[in-house]
Amino acid sequence: MHAYAWLTILFLVLIRRALAAIHVTPSTLPSLTFDFVIIGGGPGGSVVANRLTEDPNVTVLLLEAGGSQVIASTHLILPLFVVFLASPSPRDWNYSSIPQKGLDNQTLFVPRAKILGGCSSISNAHLSSHQSPSLRLVAMHVDGMLYLRGSSEDWDRFANITGDDGWSWEGMQQYFFKNEKWTPPVDRHNTTGQFDPNIHGFHGINSVSVANFPTPIDGKVLEAASQLGAPWPFNLDPNSGNHLGVGWVPDTIKDGTRSSAAKSYLAPEFVERKNLHVLLNAHVRKVVNRGMDGSKLVFGAVQFAQADKATKEVIISAGSINTPQLLLLSGIGPKSDLNALSLPTLLDLPSVGANLSVHIALYVSHAVNSADTFDDIIRNATLREQFTQEWLGNGHRGRLADTETSQAAFVRLPQDADIFKREQDPAAGPHTGHIQMGIYNGNPSFGSNSLSTGNFITVSARLITPTSRGSVKLNTTDPFNKPLIDLGSLTSEFDKFALREGVKIVRGLFTAPVWDGYILGEVGALANATTDEEIEAVARTDGAPDGHIVGTAAMSHRDALFGVVDPDLKVKGANGLRVVDASIFVSTGNTQVPTYAVGERAADLIKADWGLL
Ligand SMILES: Cc1cc2nc3c(=O)[nH]c(=O)nc-3n(C[C@H](O)[C@H](O)[C@H](O)COP(=O)(O)OP(=O)(O)OC[C@H]3O[C@@H](n4cnc5c(N)ncnc54)[C@H](O)[C@@H]3O)c2cc1C
Ligand SMILES: *[C@@H]1O[C@H](CO)[C@@H](O)[C@H](O)[C@H]1NC(C)=O
Ligand SMILES: *[C@@H]1O[C@H](CO)[C@@H](O)[C@H](O)[C@H]1NC(C)=O
Ligand SMILES: *[C@@H]1O[C@H](CO)[C@@H](O)[C@H](O)[C@H]1NC(C)=O
Ligand SMILES: *[C@@H]1O[C@H](CO)[C@@H](O)[C@H](O)[C@H]1NC(C)=O
Ligand SMILES: *[C@@H]1O[C@H](CO)[C@@H](O)[C@H](O)[C@H]1NC(C)=O
Ligand SMILES: *[C@@H]1O[C@H](CO)[C@@H](O)[C@H](O)[C@H]1NC(C)=O
Ligand SMILES: *[C@@H]1O[C@H](CO)[C@@H](O)[C@H](O)[C@H]1NC(C)=O
Ligand SMILES: *[C@@H]1O[C@H](CO)[C@@H](O)[C@H](O)[C@H]1NC(C)=O
Ligand SMILES: *[C@@H]1O[C@H](CO)[C@@H](O)[C@H](O)[C@H]1NC(C)=O
Repeated sequence: MHAYAWLTILFLVLIRRALAAIHVTPSTLPSLTFDFVIIGGGPGGSVVANRLTEDPNVTVLLLEAGGSQVIASTHLILPLFVVFLASPSPRDWNYSSIPQKGLDNQTLFVPRAKILGGCSSISNAHLSSHQSPSLRLVAMHVDGMLYLRGSSEDWDRFANITGDDGWSWEGMQQYFFKNEKWTPPVDRHNTTGQFDPNIHGFHGINSVSVANFPTPIDGKVLEAASQLGAPWPFNLDPNSGNHLGVGWVPDTIKDGTRSSAAKSYLAPEFVERKNLHVLLNAHVRKVVNRGMDGSKLVFGAVQFAQADKATKEVIISAGSINTPQLLLLSGIGPKSDLNALSLPTLLDLPSVGANLSVHIALYVSHAVNSADTFDDIIRNATLREQFTQEWLGNGHRGRLADTETSQAAFVRLPQDADIFKREQDPAAGPHTGHIQMGIYNGNPSFGSNSLSTGNFITVSARLITPTSRGSVKLNTTDPFNKPLIDLGSLTSEFDKFALREGVKIVRGLFTAPVWDGYILGEVGALANATTDEEIEAVARTDGAPDGHIVGTAAMSHRDALFGVVDPDLKVKGANGLRVVDASIFVSTGNTQVPTYAVGERAADLIKADWGLL
């Protein structure tokens, strides 16, 4: 009895310590003045909050519009349940696009997390009961947690565009390493041949592992690649800078659970620092300037429930949709658009919200002669609960411990492809793929697309070098109204060509002899599409833009007449205001790791400017 009471008290003390600096209301904040105020707790903002508070002499306030996953359900951290991600929920901003010209005027659901950790945290465990039938939930087909740095050429081109070698592949290596903490997979199998340990970080903050649960197709995919030869060489590690070929792809998973920005960079050991304060449910309405410094506007405060002052800087990390929205609401953007809404223009920056770029995928699915796929888990709630209980009772092991894809391929369009006679190759160089393929041991779609019986293998053809561009604009001046999102998908000749050729490349993988007897035949909307016209028609109805949205607050050369931030991530024409999130990229491969790495470098740039430790 005595011992029990003591244990209870210890437990409460630990909980209090762990949550010490997470506030749910501004009234518990120690002050309204901080050295740095960071807006948004996704991969960008969490990293900067963590690194700046390494210096005990600085104070940081991180403002997050959403809640925390500390209080969210177990299902949020279950890797396989990423397939239920992306449906309207209180953890999501519930955005939709305007009618999409390139996609038969459809209006699409655009998933964006509203929770600590940002999009690195979301995953809905339940089939949503409030899906709007008028919206197509394209991101039903998602990847999630994939750990991919991009090609070295992507980064080298970024360095060239911005005129800052620090953004080159070489320059960014230290930041990949600071971010990454390689961990063994939860089943502790021998991972030799599944990654190259020489190029990974083992002492960073965000956990990464490979192949947490084996699937029966792992071996078949590698065998198919070796039977076919080009363009399918085995690639030991897609994170080496050269991602071309087929191989294992790591995930941000730790011991069979999701490792989000909230779980890693805002773990209790960091959040309990006395100089870091995280305020939840704090929807920032705008950033506010405090006057001029020479020719530059000086920013130093943000408005949410009450004004918060920053003595050094305000850092916007609200993500690729909300960052341009917040800039526009603050009077930073194209003067003509701001005038039309009667908003005063503080800084005339035509690139705010422009040049939105997003990948788009089609899914090639085949019925298979096997019951060992994840299809039944997706369809059958009873079975799902059974596996969940196993995962809970068995040290987070088992088939829910991984996402639905543990291998991937990157492939280029043929050099002599017809399109290159008319258009310049948008890939950053000859070792950068146009098409990324995720390999799924089942069919990850459900809802209106679900196949109620059968077992499948699905391979995505994801166009990662799109030339189509969209935009984010304000609809009204009310910060609580949703912005107008145009994904712009499939509006360019190149994108229509490349996505349809991508489908053909994926089909090529299934011509290998290893599939004899396993593959029964193609299914789904693409099954009967063979001509270019037929495939393009399916692309318009079923093409799925994904969560890799970038470009809406693009970084450019210091002297460029376009762009939103300079190579130090400072908003052009302003002091005391930076953007640190995925919106600063011009184009990328997958965005999660690049955003963490940008956060790491941003923290170093800020520390250097202010002489911090
Ligand atoms: C469905 C989906 C699947 C994905 N899968 C992968 C993958 O497998 N691999 C990969 O590399 N990438 C993936 N991504 C992309 C990756 O998650 C994002 O690029 C990354 O999270 C971007 O980080 P961020 O910091 O720019 O913004 P976000 O993650 O969007 O975080 C922004 C944060 O700011 C908060 N915020 C916004 N506005 C305000 C405001 N006004 N006031 C206060 N707070 C605000 C938001 O609530 C949010 O928490 C996926 C994305 C989605 C949506
Ligand atoms: C801490 O910061 C304050 C004000 O920013 C400065 O005056 C002081 O010298 C700093 N102390 C150290 C040890 O850096
Ligand atoms: C999402 O937005 C739609 C309108 O686009 C609305 O009908 C629905 O109730 C919202 N859902 C949630 C969970 O907020
Ligand atoms: C899409 O909308 C535009 C403008 O309203 C119209 O001209 C076009 O015909 C529509 N396309 C389809 C496929 O409905
Ligand atoms: C970018 O690359 C081009 C071609 O290689 C070169 O001419 C140019 O000087 C580079 N620009 C910068 C800023 O490095
Ligand atoms: C893992 O496998 C490799 C190659 O098959 C082998 O050389 C190595 O000894 C194995 N490691 C362990 C710890 O068993
Ligand atoms: C969009 O990007 C291109 C290429 O980077 C640039 O030339 C153009 O000026 C940009 N447009 C705007 C409105 O920023
Ligand atoms: C769902 O799974 C349960 C548990 O394995 C099983 O008993 C049941 O028959 C399954 N239901 C269907 C429709 O397959
Ligand atoms: C834009 O605002 C108007 C007026 O408030 C509203 O009727 C309309 O639905 C909004 N459009 C979108 C796409 O949200
Ligand atoms: C494809 O064509 C076959 C044969 O005509 C037909 O049975 C099948 O239903 C079609 N599939 C789809 C998805 O349209």
